[in-house]
Amino acid sequence: MTTIQERNETLAADFRGAMRRLASGVALVTTADDNGARYGIAMTALMSLSMEPPSLLIAVNRTASLCEPLVARGRFGISLLGRDQEQTCQDFVSAPADRRFDVADWDTHESGVPLLRSALAGIVCTLDQAEPFGSHMVIRGLVDYVSLASTSDALVYLDGRYGGMAVNV
Ligand SMILES: Cc1cc2nc3c(=O)[nH]c(=O)nc-3n(C[C@H](O)[C@H](O)[C@H](O)COP(=O)(O)O)c2cc1C
Repeated sequence: MTTIQERNETLAADFRGAMRRLASGVALVTTADDNGARYGIAMTALMSLSMEPPSLLIAVNRTASLCEPLVARGRFGISLLGRDQEQTCQDFVSAPADRRFDVADWDTHESGVPLLRSALAGIVCTLDQAEPFGSHMVIRGLVDYVSLASTSDALVYLDGRYGGMAVNV
């Protein structure tokens, strides 16, 4: 007979398997503190929330080095990655937290938030709400600034691997 604990573990493993089948765009999410120290992680848990007002949701693991500085600062940047930026993403993720911004070239928005110069799009948000849920902090951001590259060919993360997607026109 399966115990409740075994059933919960099976459900969690199946849910992880289901989420691995969800193809996602990839972003580098960043902030900076008052001393100019920069923080960032790679992220797939990102969605558009509303156009009125322009707003989005992200989910940040509460143990991630980004989480506390982002909530404290109340501003953050989203750099959406293009399909040729898998290496940038991997180098950024694998670097120690204090060396991540040695990877690639960064601009600094007037808010102090770093944005990846070669991103598909750069977005700067003001934190509107941060609510802890389970392992993560669910953060609602109000969009202050957007920059767009001329291409939309996107880096995609699916089943633990990277791929690329382009729109055929
Ligand atoms: C493709 C990819 C997607 C990720 N998505 C998220 C995410 O949505 N939320 C999150 O908190 N961490 C996500 N992570 C993990 C973080 O990027 C980071 O590695 C982890 O939070 C540890 O960060 P730290 O070393 O700065 O503490 C993702 C990592 C990768 C490689």
